[in-house]
Parts: sequence; C-alpha cells; structure tokens
Amino acid sequence: METDILPVDAARLGQIRIHNSPDALVDEWSMEYTEGEDLNSMRRAAEELAHTDTPVAFPTETVYGLGADATRSSAVRAIFAAKNRPVDNPLIVHVHSISQLQSLLRGGKDVVNNGPDPIPEIYKPLIRKFWPGPLTIILPNPVNSVLAPEVTAGLSTFGARMPCSILALALIRMAGVPLAAPSANASTRPSPTTAEHVKDDLDGRIRTIIDGGPCSVGVESTVVDGLSSPPSILRPGGVTVEDLRRIPGWENVVVGYMDKQEVGDRPKAPGMKYRHYSPKATVILYEATAGVPVPKRLLEQANTKVARGKKVGIIRTVRWERALGLAVGSEKTKEVQEQEAIGMTSREEIAETSHSVAPEVPDSRLSNLLRSVIQHKVPHAEQIILKEGLTTPMVLWDINLGADTEGVARGLFSALRELDRKGVDVIFVEGIDDKSGDNIAAAVMNRLRKAQSRL
Ligand code: TXA
Ligand code: MG
Repeated sequence: METDILPVDAARLGQIRIHNSPDALVDEWSMEYTEGEDLNSMRRAAEELAHTDTPVAFPTETVYGLGADATRSSAVRAIFAAKNRPVDNPLIVHVHSISQLQSLLRGGKDVVNNGPDPIPEIYKPLIRKFWPGPLTIILPNPVNSVLAPEVTAGLSTFGARMPCSILALALIRMAGVPLAAPSANASTRPSPTTAEHVKDDLDGRIRTIIDGGPCSVGVESTVVDGLSSPPSILRPGGVTVEDLRRIPGWENVVVGYMDKQEVGDRPKAPGMKYRHYSPKATVILYEATAGVPVPKRLLEQANTKVARGKKVGIIRTVRWERALGLAVGSEKTKEVQEQEAIGMTSREEIAETSHSVAPEVPDSRLSNLLRSVIQHKVPHAEQIILKEGLTTPMVLWDINLGADTEGVARGLFSALRELDRKGVDVIFVEGIDDKSGDNIAAAVMNRLRKAQSRL
C-alpha cells in the first residue's frame, strides 16, 4: 500500500466559529469549510476512517496520532497491527465536543441530552480549564458502551481527550465517530512529532498521513485518574502537576507512575511495563544532578561500553557546551548557539499563521487557542569535526535543544529520530531538572528515563 503525506493548512480549510456559552464546560465550535485541496485531503482521510479498516495518521498538539473508528473492532485492531502494539495497552478516545463525550458515557453514538450529565463532577473543573488540550481523563465505560472492547483492553474504564488542534478536531467531526488514537509511531520507537516521522515508521502500512507541520507540545498528554481517591497522574505530559494542584478537588493529586524502577506484571497504567520511546542507538542519560560529563571520559565510554561506538550523538539542553568543547575550529558565538536552540528561536523566525476564526467571535479559551498557530522548527544536528588527538575515527553529531523547557519537550523526540537517521551508535543526553513540578520537565525526563538503554 502507498503511504501519502497530505499537507493541510487549517487556515485554508475554512472558518471556525465559536459559540460562547458561559455554562458549557467547553464552547461549541462549528466550521464553514472552503472547497479546495485541503478540504479534499481531509475528506479522503475522513472517508477512510468511516469506511475502511486502515488507520489514518493525523496531527494533534502533542504528537501525531494513528486514528480509527473507536466503535468498530476491526478498525481498532488494525491500529494495533500497524504499530505492532501489545493488545493489553489501551488506547485514548479522541472527541470533538463535550456532547460527543456525553453520548459515549451514556452508551450511544448520538444519544441526545436526556437525564443527568454523565461526566463525573471531579473532572468538570479540569475540563473547563484544560480542554481542548493535552489532558486525558479516565472515565467509567458504561455497560452498554459503543466502544470496541479492544480500545479499553478489557478495562472497565476508558481514556478520553479533546485535542486542541483544528485539524484533529475537524477530522474527528468529519469522520462522524470518536477516534481511538495512540501515538502514530511503531511500538517502542520515539513518538512522532512530524508527518515524516510517521512515514519513517509506518510506510506501506497506512494510506494517509495528514500533515499539519511539527507538533507544538511535542510530548504526549497528561493522563489522570480522578475515579480513584486521591486522584492520580498516570502519565506526566503537557499539563503539569502544579497546574493540576491548582484545580479544586485536585489539590492532593498523587504521582501514580514510576520513572526508574522496573514495574511489575500489573502496572497501574497499562502500557507502562513496555520499552518505550527508543531510538536504534544506545541512549545514555545524564540526570541534571549528575554534573557535566568529562568529555574525554564520555568518548571513552562511547568506545568501550557501547558496542565500539564510532558515531556519537549529543543532545544538550541547559549547561553542556557545543560538542562538550571537543569541536575543532571557530567556536560559534553565543547568539548563534542560542538561535539554533529550538526553544529559543527568535519570534521573527517562527511563522505564525492566523487561522480563520470568525472575527466577531468573543474571546474565550477555545477561540484564543484556535486563532493562531505557530509553525515551529525541528531540531537540526550539526556534524562536529573533533579536535586532534581524540579517539580517532569518531564522528560526532551535536543537537542543541536550548534551555527553555517547552522547547526541549517540543524537540526531544525529533532529536532522537534525527540522530538515528545520522546512524549514530550512541546518544548522550543532558537531562533537565524536573524537581519543581511547575513545567513540562517531568514529562521530558519520564520519556528520557524510559528511552535510556539498560547497559
Ligand atoms: O497525547 C496523546 O495522548 C497522544 C495523542 C495522539 O493524543 N496519544 C497517546 O496515546 O499518547 P498512547 O496510546 O501512546 O498512550 C495511551 C496511554 C496508554 O499507554 C495508557 O497508559 C493510558 O493512555 N490509558 C489509556 N486508557 C487507559 C485506561 N482505561 N486506564 C488507564 N490508562 C489508560
Ligand atoms: Mg505512545
């Protein structure tokens, strides 16, 4: 099967209207579509989702998802097959509106408003604050659920999320069904944050990749369980623990995931026990507390411990120097280094596209989110010529993600994949401080600790 990347620009897809309603958890939205290539590509994707079993890859603000009709077993099974994903790892259900979620909780695809609101009270302030956005909530799956049993891997709960990418929202609505969607990588690989990443992993296994450019968050959603007491975080992500603790009912949220230890046979969040986020190269992570490595020793480590590594990659963040000071030739100025840092790219360099949100729309969380989207750059690897006298023949690739935590999150998976493409044998990564809990560092370090190789 041929795999096509179809670029879609949300601004050319049509005009979004936001229907403000003070009582609603999330404003309703509608879209007036504009005929053209962009709409045709979305229609093709929606048709495939509705009428075939072949999953479709699409962008979200976190990572690219691999979607299928969450109500059809054959379509959901095809996701697991395409990714080679273990079947006991449940999928997240993506919805385009609160009413679609309410229908699911009532056990129907289109059950109209009748009876009490089925959304558990504990989640309402969270939804108000963080949806649409990088937050997945665990909900009770009704006995008469329309969800395919493969989605929940046999659990009595399901995870749900309303993404804030216009393309994701529009695709879910056009498909006419909730979309089960894990990240669109092959199982165990780093999650995809560009359409090319998806193609690298799933070429020939799917027909359609909707290309909306690089993802803005770069790590997956935060998964929270408010059904247990106290509520817990099952996976750190785009919404931080400090963000959560400011929400009524969530002041005592506990961390329910484990970063370092091996988890047992029955982890709390299914899927935690598997190898994850791993490039082909050996990953050696330096915790932020570990100090800057001595370059010579690091190269020795690459040469001995790690399968006689001849090509080395470095991903640095806050403190490490370019190539750890091993580069020959003119040192780059601080400004150049800073410009190259993804998180610190100057605003002028980032294209900001204004989406067609109807101009008369009053400000609301939803309209602000959808009004403009920044087209971020992807990290670039620089090949370094090493100083004489160092362990010959060795090639070194250097990537600077910068000191800004959000920039590190955005570029992390891309950087791991970029170094794989350069064919490096070992990647040294400079970890960041994840102690404060008020930024996305916990999500970054969680992914890196899982990606690191056990030597
Ligand atoms: O940002 C994201 O969440 C991305 C984009 C595509 O939306 N999706 C994503 O899906 O990361 P995935 O399949 O790679 O991760 C889903 C995780 C599972 O590993 C599992 O830990 C958790 O969500 N999960 C799903 N349903 C669950 C349930 N019923 N109970 C507990 N955890 C659940
Ligand atoms: Mg995943």
